[in-house]
Amino acid sequence: MIKKNEEYIVNIIDNGSNGEGICKIDEFTIFVSGAIKDEECKIKILKVNKSYAFGKLLEVIKPSSHRIEPDCLTYKKCGGCNLRHIDYKYTLDMKRDKIQNLVNKTLNNKIAVKYTIGMAEPLYYRNKAIYPVKEINGKNVIGIYANRSHDVIEFEECKIQNKESQEIAKYILENWNDSIYDEETHTGHLRNIMIRVGAISKEIMVVLISNGYIDYDYSNLVKKYPNIKTIIINDNHEVTNVVLSNNNKVIFGDGVIYDYLNDYKFQISPNSFFQVNSYQTINMYNEAIKMADLSSKDIIADLYCGIGTISIFASKYVKKVYGIEIIHSSIENAKINAEINNISNIDFIEGDVEKAFNELIEKDIKLDVVIVDPPRKGLDNTTINNLIKIKPRKIVYVSCNPATLVRDLKELENDYDIKNIQPIDNFPYTNHIESVSVLERR
Ligand SMILES: C[S@@+](CC[C@H](N)C(=O)[O-])C[C@H]1O[C@@H](n2cnc3c(N)ncnc32)[C@H](O)[C@@H]1O
Repeated sequence: MIKKNEEYIVNIIDNGSNGEGICKIDEFTIFVSGAIKDEECKIKILKVNKSYAFGKLLEVIKPSSHRIEPDCLTYKKCGGCNLRHIDYKYTLDMKRDKIQNLVNKTLNNKIAVKYTIGMAEPLYYRNKAIYPVKEINGKNVIGIYANRSHDVIEFEECKIQNKESQEIAKYILENWNDSIYDEETHTGHLRNIMIRVGAISKEIMVVLISNGYIDYDYSNLVKKYPNIKTIIINDNHEVTNVVLSNNNKVIFGDGVIYDYLNDYKFQISPNSFFQVNSYQTINMYNEAIKMADLSSKDIIADLYCGIGTISIFASKYVKKVYGIEIIHSSIENAKINAEINNISNIDFIEGDVEKAFNELIEKDIKLDVVIVDPPRKGLDNTTINNLIKIKPRKIVYVSCNPATLVRDLKELENDYDIKNIQPIDNFPYTNHIESVSVLERR
């Protein structure tokens, strides 16, 4: 029986779904963060549950050939990346395996998951950052959340955030002369700084998330960083972990920025969803459109359409697109996006997919293909049943969560053949993985 605080020498036999190493002692599964499959390690048991335990990596005795020196000074403490000690190519294998294992465990069709599409240069790829700020011992600190905690840690340089965004956030805080929010007492103003940078347009949006509206003199900031096109004060005075409220006051510019994906131009508002890795998003949308195998007579639906990106990518191949999305500002962006790209065959519908898709199909609109791109929790039962009921020729499932993807594929596989699962690495060096799957009506 293993015991807390005991030290053991172990062989790591597998990689877990969060990139941690897995070993066994007396049939006990032990998760060891920072260890890699095939390594021999010295570990200390941190916590013992009924059938599994967590161990701390004390020493790597025999390193994996995939182990590399992390290139980030804050990596060990940070809650952002968790695979920077592993060579990038191998992380792509690990991510494919993560989906393959779920497929093998859950589905009747043990389809071989395709090799992960990775990035040529997986650095500084995020177009959106939310930097928490905190006053620690009289000093204003801007940073990132520490691993599995709400503590803010300072960072030298983040390897996944856009470089200019990091510079701007630091500049804002260095010149901040208002108060900083204190979680304990729910007093003070500045809570977070959100920055969006257009990967192609380079247009920048700054959102100062504050406990109550504040006056902010932005004159020096916009002089120093002329790519800043808009500045917004987001009043979030709730005691909550939700970062953005719906209360926006635009103090500079139009409250939106524009960016491009392929030849399409997109308007983006602060509360709207926009894929964080624009470079990989183009690959992902191209895969989705290719797998959908669209034809000019097709009537299709794009469920969870955000600001209408997939609808717009698909529009030129089909007769008609219906896009459904719950967030008001996203649907407003989507309508404008269709307009500025001269597209007239899309209807954007604001609403909860569960209800709005149901209403759409009750109008007797025959859908040939349905593309879905739900949030992490996946599809709801009504929508799955509606898909089975209307039986589109193809369903293309874009997913950011393999667990809910495979759960939903299981529900659909009686009526549909799963033809392809293609992982795309939108989040290099983190344990997240995006994928596009295609299902064909049997
Ligand atoms: C993963 S994003 C995909 C957005 C878009 N397809 C894209 O690639 O940018 C999921 C979207 O679903 C929206 N959403 C979440 N729950 C929803 C629901 N119940 N009904 C409709 N839309 C929802 C979110 O606001 C978000 O825009």
